[in-house]
Amino acid sequence: MCGIVGYIGKSKATPFLVEGLKALEYRGYDSAGVAVYDQTIELVKTKGRLKDLESCLDGSQLNGTMGIGHTRWATHGEPSYCNAHPHMNTRTDIAIVHNGIIENYLELKEELEAKGYQFVSETDTETVVHLIEETLKEHENFFTAVLTAAKRLKGSYGLGVISHKNPDQIIAIRKDSPLVIGLGEHENFLASDIPAILKYTRNVYFLEDGEAAILTKDSVKIYDLDEKELKKEVFTVTWDIDAAEKSGYDHFMMKEIFEQPKVIKDTLNGRLSQDSEEVILDQIKIDKDVLEKINKIYIVACGTAYYAGMIGKELIEKIARVPVVAEVASEFRYKDPILDENTLMIVVSQSGETADTLAALRMAKQAGARVMAIVNVVGSTISREAHDILYTSAGPEIAVASTKAYSSQLIAMYLLSIRMGRILGKIDDAEFTELKTAILKLPEQVQNILDRSQEIKALADKHLGMKNIFYIGRGLDYATSLEGALKIKEVAYLHAESYQAGELKHGPIALIEKGSVLMGLLGQESLMEKTISNIKEVKARGADVIAIALEGNTMAKHVADDVFMVPKTHWMLTTLLINIPQQLFAYYISCGLGHDVDKPRNLAKSVTVE
Ligand code: M6R
Repeated sequence: MCGIVGYIGKSKATPFLVEGLKALEYRGYDSAGVAVYDQTIELVKTKGRLKDLESCLDGSQLNGTMGIGHTRWATHGEPSYCNAHPHMNTRTDIAIVHNGIIENYLELKEELEAKGYQFVSETDTETVVHLIEETLKEHENFFTAVLTAAKRLKGSYGLGVISHKNPDQIIAIRKDSPLVIGLGEHENFLASDIPAILKYTRNVYFLEDGEAAILTKDSVKIYDLDEKELKKEVFTVTWDIDAAEKSGYDHFMMKEIFEQPKVIKDTLNGRLSQDSEEVILDQIKIDKDVLEKINKIYIVACGTAYYAGMIGKELIEKIARVPVVAEVASEFRYKDPILDENTLMIVVSQSGETADTLAALRMAKQAGARVMAIVNVVGSTISREAHDILYTSAGPEIAVASTKAYSSQLIAMYLLSIRMGRILGKIDDAEFTELKTAILKLPEQVQNILDRSQEIKALADKHLGMKNIFYIGRGLDYATSLEGALKIKEVAYLHAESYQAGELKHGPIALIEKGSVLMGLLGQESLMEKTISNIKEVKARGADVIAIALEGNTMAKHVADDVFMVPKTHWMLTTLLINIPQQLFAYYISCGLGHDVDKPRNLAKSVTVE
């Protein structure tokens, strides 16, 4: 989950390393460092954020044209100078940066300590640098030594390695942790993620698991672990760099919330329009024969993507009438699910790199199941490994808290469930037209909510002093309430709980007292009166109630202290609209409390470790 960069070429390495790390800071930000070769390997690292590293670099003379850098999200050992990357061996002639977890590091550490190696950090990564030094005793060739050492590692790694004795090369190697190589003119780049290199080149190689690369100033060669050279295709990134910057907003989270009308249009683009008679999903090759054989669907994902999956489950079951189980990936991968060639797994992921989701995908493929990915990052590992892909066109999502990616995942779920329903003959033309018309109106309806963001700000200001908040909803609104509560936890650091509205009286209502805050979601018209009754029960016990309801709802104002109305739409789509004010509410509460809304504590954007 850390960020890795590397540079070798005609210019000084440090400016690229720092710029690249800035673009990756969302991957981790508890310490950062660079190692640059200039006669010897010079190491500068520090606990804290990149601005702290920049202060350390201020005035330092790092003139070398080859180097590696890292921004860390701690797994082994607290954030500290010693635990920050790059890590070096005791002779200080090898430096490495690592993303991932070395699972057998304790065993290797014991072995290396017995041979006299001195460890200065608590990290798993330091084991690797000593192991490379040890392996060099048997393999003089540095690349061979790195590959041989890597073969002894269990777990996941994206590694960038440099050595004093080989000042003209950077070695990169990956297993279950992303690495991308950018191709320049007399310079080449290494990064764990595309934004780091986008300013410099759009031509990249994606390293696959079990592949390693030697980067020099003028060449990039890719090998398998047995040193057989591989031919790879250059991939051209088509994203716009501006899309990765703030465009005048104070924070990426706000910018991304406000991008949602466009993101919805982009995700619909080429797939559903006013003239469409069908949903077109080019990269999904599932036809009637395939679908009729599928007797079970799993939707597997983590966090916000999982909540999109919960909604997907309801939609597919309702529209296509195929049984669906939605599961959190970290649980799914350690169960014994019934997977076979008649199973379809749908994984959902913004980053396309989430370790647990990827593991579930591989498990399903291994068992012969078909895997479809709803994924945002083009070229990500999940997108490359799935059989079928439905890209969400949300563009780069930089804020740790997912907003626009979630809305785009819901759109993907609408498209997919309608497509399945049409293939299976479960949706007639009239229903299709009704849904199509409603979906195409969503961008303007989301804009209508965004135009009233100050109303939400006023609500947030009123509740800035709250210590906890309860979210309730029924049907699709329950998944939405989970997402609302997660946003508050992530960016406002407030205790937030979500319940199915009908479950309150089975226990949680005991928590309600005078001053408790309740967010009641009233997006499901058929269930609205039931939820209103539940809100009344909470109100009667002293809670301060905010309701998010559909325009025209005349009951909400009688039970809630404040009501925010969202436009009316098809019942399956209301949940997307109901979520937008929740995003704004969490954003304003976080800012009001003075938190770092884009980089909340303890979190990282891309969770590439278990
Ligand atoms: O990249 P992914 O969509 O696979 O990430 C899954 C979760 O880690 C992610 O949704 C996380 O819960 C977000 N921080 C939510 O805002």
